[in-house]
Amino acid sequence: MDKIRIQGGIPLKGKVVLSGAKNAALPIMSAALLTDGWVTLSNLPALRDIQTEKKLLSFLGASFEEGPEASLRINSSKIQRMEAPYDLVKTMRASILVLGPLVARFGRARVSLPGGCAIGARPINLHLKGLELMGARIDLKHGYVEAKARQLQGAEIVFDIPTVTGTENLMMAACLAKGKTIIGNAAKEPEVVDLANFLTAMGAKIEGVGTDIITIHGVSHLHPTPYRIMADRIEAATYMTAAGITGGEITLVNYDGSCLETVMGKLREAGLEFSQKKTGLTVHGPQKIKSVSLTTRPYPGFPTDMQAQFMALISLGQDTSLIKETIFENRFMHVSELRRMGADIQVSGNQAVIKGVSRLLGAPVMATDLRASASLVLAGLAADGTTEISRVYHLDRGYEGLEKKLLPLGARIERIKE
Ligand code: EPU
Repeated sequence: MDKIRIQGGIPLKGKVVLSGAKNAALPIMSAALLTDGWVTLSNLPALRDIQTEKKLLSFLGASFEEGPEASLRINSSKIQRMEAPYDLVKTMRASILVLGPLVARFGRARVSLPGGCAIGARPINLHLKGLELMGARIDLKHGYVEAKARQLQGAEIVFDIPTVTGTENLMMAACLAKGKTIIGNAAKEPEVVDLANFLTAMGAKIEGVGTDIITIHGVSHLHPTPYRIMADRIEAATYMTAAGITGGEITLVNYDGSCLETVMGKLREAGLEFSQKKTGLTVHGPQKIKSVSLTTRPYPGFPTDMQAQFMALISLGQDTSLIKETIFENRFMHVSELRRMGADIQVSGNQAVIKGVSRLLGAPVMATDLRASASLVLAGLAADGTTEISRVYHLDRGYEGLEKKLLPLGARIERIKE
């Protein structure tokens, strides 16, 4: 397995071009199942998860054509299987996103139940309850969800907790259901909005996306369309944090900070400054990092997907910070690794108390999930000496060309093939 080796302590300076958003691309690729003909998606990130999604769609019977500038054409005219097998779902939970489209268009689906993962139990009960309300019969057999419905019916669904992929699955299903579906306490994440924009471009009738209540009027069919995937806001925020933790200056090309207001507010509290120019958004790292407390919340709150990276930053704060994680019950796996690099962090339940230290020291560390890995890369960029991060495949799932983007910024980073 590959490792990443970083010699830390260099303020990063230069420009970064952001990739398309993984968490918008995955539901949008699944939504291509809702129509016949060629759907052309551009700005797709080159990531392992996108390869896994392609494998899944190809297993179902979809065909592909690679195009210029990170574009991909998907054709779902000849879907023969209605099944997401265990081997694919276990490598990528987002495979569950084919459930809604398959039942809506073909009347049945068999999808392996995703198990727990490194960050929490992550059940899918709310996806299933919503489909049942829409008239699907759901059976759990041999580790698989089997869903059947001759024709899904519009329904009123209110989530107990706003769920991102749950909202996406039901919104996709409702597009081809008969009548009106209302999703209450819906997720408001920008990636849900991007999916809705794609569905609307295919002819879906959706109102209220980006608010708590989404209304979908079912249509008899959707038509193929070209679509450009939004920029990855979590990748953007990770590079902002890289400027902050190294005291550098990074310009995010073609990005204006949209959808990151809360994160940028917290980065400003930590001492970072931002200036918007024609060339992009420039992030100026501080001389000294200030301690900042935060609680993760669904959008527009502080995203759980930035919690680990932000913790690396404030581990170098001048005072004490408190982080409360309210979305996933086990998303502090990076703490023990950051401690091995000299961070002073105590965890109690879903809270972490971070006493700032004056420096981090490079060490061999191990990544446990995607965002934890990014946190260790950031810590390594700031640390004195060498940091070696193993299990890099987590990073490859969600950050396109991380070391290729960091090298021109002056980082001393290399991938060691094993
Ligand atoms: N939940 C339930 N029942 C459900 C669904 C969710 O109890 O049926 C709970 C979850 O256990 C969690 C909360 O609801 O406590 C919110 O989870 P959500 O369903 O919103 O998460 P998700 O849809 O599985 C997506 C992203 C994650 C991101 C979360 C939260 C994709 C493909 N994944 O997951 O991204 O952390 O929303 O914003 O969009 C990542 O990119 O590193 C990543 C993990």
